[in-house]
Amino acid sequence: MSFSDLIHLDPPPVASVPVTRPSLPPLEDLLPYLQDIWSSGQLTNGGFYVNRLEEELKVYLDVPNVSLVTNCTLGILLALRALGITGEVITSPYTFVGSANAIVLAGATPVFADIDPMTLNLSPKAVAEQITERTQAILAVHCYGIPCDVEALQAIADRHSIPLIYDAAHCFGVKVGGRSILDYGTCSIISFHATKVFNTFEGGAVFSSNPQLNQAIRRLANNGIIDEEKVNDVGLNAKMSELRAAIGLAQLPYVSDEIAKRLTLVDAYLEGLSGVRGLRFIQPPPNVAHNGYMFPIIVEAEYPITRDMLYENLKKNGISARRYFYPIVTDFPPFADAPSAGLEALAVARRAAKSVLCLPLFPSLDSAVQKHIIEIVRNPLR
Ligand SMILES: Cc1ncc(COP(=O)(O)O)c(C=O)c1O
Repeated sequence: MSFSDLIHLDPPPVASVPVTRPSLPPLEDLLPYLQDIWSSGQLTNGGFYVNRLEEELKVYLDVPNVSLVTNCTLGILLALRALGITGEVITSPYTFVGSANAIVLAGATPVFADIDPMTLNLSPKAVAEQITERTQAILAVHCYGIPCDVEALQAIADRHSIPLIYDAAHCFGVKVGGRSILDYGTCSIISFHATKVFNTFEGGAVFSSNPQLNQAIRRLANNGIIDEEKVNDVGLNAKMSELRAAIGLAQLPYVSDEIAKRLTLVDAYLEGLSGVRGLRFIQPPPNVAHNGYMFPIIVEAEYPITRDMLYENLKKNGISARRYFYPIVTDFPPFADAPSAGLEALAVARRAAKSVLCLPLFPSLDSAVQKHIIEIVRNPLR
């Protein structure tokens, strides 16, 4: 069997409408990069394209320092290591499990605090209640790219002189009052995973206003190597390759258009679903320039069926929605025994995990298909 036979095998069955589809640049845009990589022979180790993508991201995202890494999970881990965090880190249970995994793998201990019912982001009040002398950092997540209460969290971090790290996995292009969301806190880590607004297939980056911190992260991402003869810290291999950086560079010219298409689809969802009893929307405040990463709806008790019934109903119609985030991190065995994982303490996060459903949203979502989705969600009993 030849390679071309292999690539023409039937793909595995998928729902006819996926919850998301990766954005890809035209293949021909990538070819010059590939030719260049093939002729230079430089595949990794901080090559030309990694440096160029860092420079272009600084301009596009309006941030002073960027370190590209293999993915967001390792970016968080490296940020914690670079900041010397080995004690307790207050974080959200309403996130992708990678946020908490990174804390544990950095040698620190996650302490979970509840979320705000309106934004589903870490509640500053809950954070303040969890702070002790053992707390060494806060890791807050801007869920769906909707900014946390950055002022209140910063005030807590300042009061206790601890770093405030943002898991900004969902935040490509998000701005608050004209300022990049990645510019807040001690540092922010973004994901360039296939499902994100901007992807390098897999990838991520750490942003900060501190060039030394970015340099330390770059070094730790290269196994702590300072030069041929010097290694002072234990790092790991979390470098981005030239190929992935090239994919990012080829994609960057298209991303503003892709975000605009997402936002048009968000508006159509909001219009089509307005007035449906028992549905609530998590939308950014007016001073936020959003990226339309996800369209989460909250299915409340007044809606005619439960969230899970709606999920199944859509599935029966070939539409894949996502219960994101469900279950919460503290429902997973590695985190279930954390003293902060008690049922009472995380009541808002638990409720959110049972009621949130993300509807399909990606730039190429056909508007007729979107209307069909809206119709099902508006009339789930029909
Ligand atoms: C909130 C959040 N944090 C971290 C990650 C991990 O990102 P990556 O897959 O790039 O490691 C994700 C991935 O979806 C995420 O949603």
